[in-house]
Amino acid sequence: MDFADTKRKGTISGKIFMAAVVTTIFIFIFRQTPSSSTSNFFSHREAGVTHVLVTGGAGYIGSHAALRLLKDSYRVTIVDNLSRGNIGAVKVLQELFPEPGALQFIYADLGDPKAVNKIFSENAFDAVMHFAAVAYVGESTLEPLRYYHNITSNTLVVLEAMAKHNVKTLIYSSTCATYGEPKTMPITEETDQLPINPYGKAKKMAEDIILDFSKNSDMAVMILRYFNVIGSDPEGRLGEAPRPELREHGRISGACFDAARGIMPGLKVKGTDYKTADGTCVRDYIDVTDLVDAHVKALANAKPKKVGIYNVGTGKGRSVKEFVEACKKATGVSIKIDYLERRPGDYAEVYSDPSKIRRELNWTARYTDLHESLQIAWRWQKSHVNGYGTSRATA
Ligand SMILES: NC(=O)c1ccc[n+]([C@@H]2O[C@H](COP(=O)([O-])OP(=O)(O)OC[C@H]3O[C@@H](n4cnc5c(N)ncnc54)[C@H](O)[C@@H]3O)[C@@H](O)[C@H]2O)c1
Repeated sequence: MDFADTKRKGTISGKIFMAAVVTTIFIFIFRQTPSSSTSNFFSHREAGVTHVLVTGGAGYIGSHAALRLLKDSYRVTIVDNLSRGNIGAVKVLQELFPEPGALQFIYADLGDPKAVNKIFSENAFDAVMHFAAVAYVGESTLEPLRYYHNITSNTLVVLEAMAKHNVKTLIYSSTCATYGEPKTMPITEETDQLPINPYGKAKKMAEDIILDFSKNSDMAVMILRYFNVIGSDPEGRLGEAPRPELREHGRISGACFDAARGIMPGLKVKGTDYKTADGTCVRDYIDVTDLVDAHVKALANAKPKKVGIYNVGTGKGRSVKEFVEACKKATGVSIKIDYLERRPGDYAEVYSDPSKIRRELNWTARYTDLHESLQIAWRWQKSHVNGYGTSRATA
């Protein structure tokens, strides 16, 4: 009896155990199926499909670049830690391109080499567009170590992973801040790079690491040095939505829009006695649509063992006063302007010579009407008063 009972108990518990195992396997397969089939697209190379890793693709420029790549039938993986970007931008892209194998988002921090290595081992990338960075000059002077870590050290992590996993093309987001305060204008790619703030220095160091590495590698490298980026998607799908707490470090277009929306009481223009036509600083404003076009052209023209370095600007300087007038016109708001003393560290005039990129990549800026760029950006701002919403992660 004891024996029989034990045997029976054993049979029942065995059946329960088996049922549990089968159920678990079933649930596991059920759960895994969609992501496994999706990840297959991303984990294997496919003839005729170029798979681009877009770091920082939840951010302003990275999301616009991802949109353009997806529109041009590239396969895109976005890696972002959402410290500054918006998951809302990724959702917009996912809704526009829901086809399996078009877009995947991976939440990860590029400062974590293990996580980065895992991403590279599980995905078959053909190229990397490395946008992810903290990118405010003022903030970099207050938190220099954060900038060297996030920009320089993380670029090293990405580059090591690329080398280890045989990813052969890098398009790197650099900046005119690497030039510092050149004595002569316009800035060519040959102009000495003497950055004057941690942001520019960290980017210059990252460039140096890439250049040194490329000397003994067959990697194709394109370094793009952007000037001041403005505007947004002309079809109004994406925009620029920095975190409110970064407002004090913000860029001029954001400051103008905040003033136009009444979030800020007005706009502070710092310095009216520069040696420029109207006394205010002069900058080269490049529309984000043109900028991402330069990335696509850089990717198409990248060649193994070759490094291309290009300024991405319009070649035309506009004064802060001109910018403010264009912003007033675009928003239809008579923004209150306070003219203040110069801000230490600001240089009078910066604009690019874009002839190299025109000559070698057949790229030229087309959105060069400030008013039009700002009008497009303002339309998005007005219809997204809270940016992409509240779904952002904390830093
Ligand atoms: N906006 C400009 O005017 C300008 C000018 C010159 C160069 N750039 C360069 O362009 C790139 C993009 O700038 P942006 O204006 O789109 O900035 P952004 O802040 O909108 O986007 C940067 C993105 O990178 C992500 N990120 C930051 N650190 C990360 C990390 N450790 N791991 C993963 N993701 C991380 C952020 O969450 C964000 O989504 C930057 O490299 C910047 O230096 C920008």
